[in-house]
Amino acid sequence: MHAEAKKLRLGVLISGGGTNLQSILNAIELGELDAQVAVVISNRGDAYGLERARLAGVPAVFLDPKGYATLIDYNHALRETLDEHGVEAVIMAGYMRLLGREVLEAFPSRVLNIHPALLPSFPGASGVADAWKAGVKVTGVTVHFADEKFDEGPIIAQEVVRIEEDDTVAMVEARIHSVEHRIYPAAIQLLAQDRIRVEGRRVRVLPRGDA
Ligand code: GAR
Repeated sequence: MHAEAKKLRLGVLISGGGTNLQSILNAIELGELDAQVAVVISNRGDAYGLERARLAGVPAVFLDPKGYATLIDYNHALRETLDEHGVEAVIMAGYMRLLGREVLEAFPSRVLNIHPALLPSFPGASGVADAWKAGVKVTGVTVHFADEKFDEGPIIAQEVVRIEEDDTVAMVEARIHSVEHRIYPAAIQLLAQDRIRVEGRRVRVLPRGDA
């Protein structure tokens, strides 16, 4: 009998439906991701992702921005909540606020974000619709390390999604979501296996067993 492998403790930040959170919970349940969700934090009280967390038996915290005078104060509270739950890596999953250095400096190369476009194209809150409106033929999904700007930082993984002539935004969104739900847990698993190395803006993924 061998000891159970150590599970990376994740703090998942959300603002909405939490389908990416669900894909992470599912991957853990299936044994595909050596992690555990220690806490889910939302800046919106009505985010359905909070309910997903509760259903999975994970602590769900609504941190109301109205309770804090500045974004810096808010981010300090975020950091405290992450610390209280022993979080080792922060996963932004549809979290629509800026993270400051108050959080980032506590988790160097341990804060991930997912974005529904091929960054650096179409950053922001409506990456899918912006790409569709621009008429690009390919868009996709990006998983990257977060920094102090929206949707910036060294890129860990990207996958292309084609936009066909008759596609609606909703159709592209659905395909993007299904890619997100596959590649985000996979990227987090690379972090759990300590296989990601950051060299400036460039990220190297070590082969299995080399970490
Ligand atoms: C996801 O598509 C994610 O890529 C996007 O928000 C959605 C959240 O969905 N994030 C951004 O646009 C960040 N700029 P979910 O709540 O169902 O996981």
